[in-house]
Amino acid sequence: MPPIEFAPDFLWGVATSAYQIEGAIAEDGRGESIWDRFCRTPGRIADGQTADIAADHYHRWRQDVDLIAGLGVNAYRFSVAWPRVVPAGHGTVNGAGLDFYDRLVDALLDRGVEPFVTLYHWDLPQVLEDGGGWTVRTTAEAFADYAAHVVERLGDRVQRWLTINEPGCIVQAGYRSGIHAPGRSSAADALAAAHYLLVAHGLAVERIRSLAPQAQVGIAVDLWPQHPASLHLLDLEAAALSHDRLNRWYLDPLAGKGYPPRAIATAAWHQKEIGPGDLDLIAAPIDFLGVNYYSRAIVGSDALDDEHRPNPIRRSETISDMDWEVYPAGLTEVLEWAHRRYEFPAMYITENGVALDDETGPPFIDDGRILYLRRHLAAAHLAMARGVPLQGYFAWSLLDNFEWERGFAMRFGLVHIDYQTLERTVRQSGHWYGGVAATGSLEV
Ligand code: FCB
Repeated sequence: MPPIEFAPDFLWGVATSAYQIEGAIAEDGRGESIWDRFCRTPGRIADGQTADIAADHYHRWRQDVDLIAGLGVNAYRFSVAWPRVVPAGHGTVNGAGLDFYDRLVDALLDRGVEPFVTLYHWDLPQVLEDGGGWTVRTTAEAFADYAAHVVERLGDRVQRWLTINEPGCIVQAGYRSGIHAPGRSSAADALAAAHYLLVAHGLAVERIRSLAPQAQVGIAVDLWPQHPASLHLLDLEAAALSHDRLNRWYLDPLAGKGYPPRAIATAAWHQKEIGPGDLDLIAAPIDFLGVNYYSRAIVGSDALDDEHRPNPIRRSETISDMDWEVYPAGLTEVLEWAHRRYEFPAMYITENGVALDDETGPPFIDDGRILYLRRHLAAAHLAMARGVPLQGYFAWSLLDNFEWERGFAMRFGLVHIDYQTLERTVRQSGHWYGGVAATGSLEV
């Protein structure tokens, strides 16, 4: 097989988020975030761990920029921590918070690495949660003001922005099941949060456009194909509804199609949150869609037991430490589906990767991760060959990091972290991925 060749201008990146790597939660005027509070709530995080230090990136960022440049990638997706920039959620800007990201952006550009900036990756200022969190419109308005402060400072150098990371995951994990901060489990709160997150996105897009007209703006959604557990009609219906609730719920309104009617009806949503003009605001054109892809879900109807399932669909035997099935074909599927249904001008894979424990220790030979990345890159390329305007790929993650409620046991890094010493060691997968990025050529 000849290698798969990617276009010379394809963006090859690595991704992180502020809360998962920075640590230094009380330094230089940073305010409290909902995750700080959540980590201090007994029983919420595996082994009672906290992200107070995490990967200590706040102090080791220069070394991390060197690592990124050393890998050979040409882009770095990171997020800005709202509580560093506007510690009280709205109002006064903390200059020291912005200074940190200002230096980071300059250092990346010095090394020929494009900064790709996420404005919200889940670390809401706690004071805003106290005032209602994402279930109130004022949080969306505060987000737009915060976004404007960041863009005023970095917009002369940052070309590509993501407003919100994974509204669907925020809603499901933060407001519905409650396994993520702020830990609420209320259907009504989840519906309100879903709407105001999209309003926040729309308001931020407006502000970014006015402050940095040349900038490219998008949003990162998590897409999981929802496959029926069998070919029984009830399973087919359950999977279709789940697809509407989890995937179309966000993309349909972003693309000007409104909320999916069947999902609204079954959720018994009265839509009282939708204000005049909201749907137009949410549907303001974006320059690209960011897709985070990890796996698929197999969805069955509660009304069926296993004996009533003809032709059951079983997940493959290859399962990551997250208990997520390794399913590369799903990446081609979601990219093609999103492109055919919505036709956004461009797409990026803003996250893709796998949690695997190191079996061998140094030198961290992680063939499983290389195989995962290789198969997903090939799946992405297949989507491109079928017409998907995919312009870049970000591996999750640069570093091992704080994997939310799972703590530090889940290792997603191309770079290993020793949490005793905080020493960084590039895994085999990091060297391998850097080689693919540098040549644009993937051996299959
Ligand atoms: C995504 C999150 C990211 C990371 C990966 C594993 O849902 O955006 O922060 O936790 O999952």
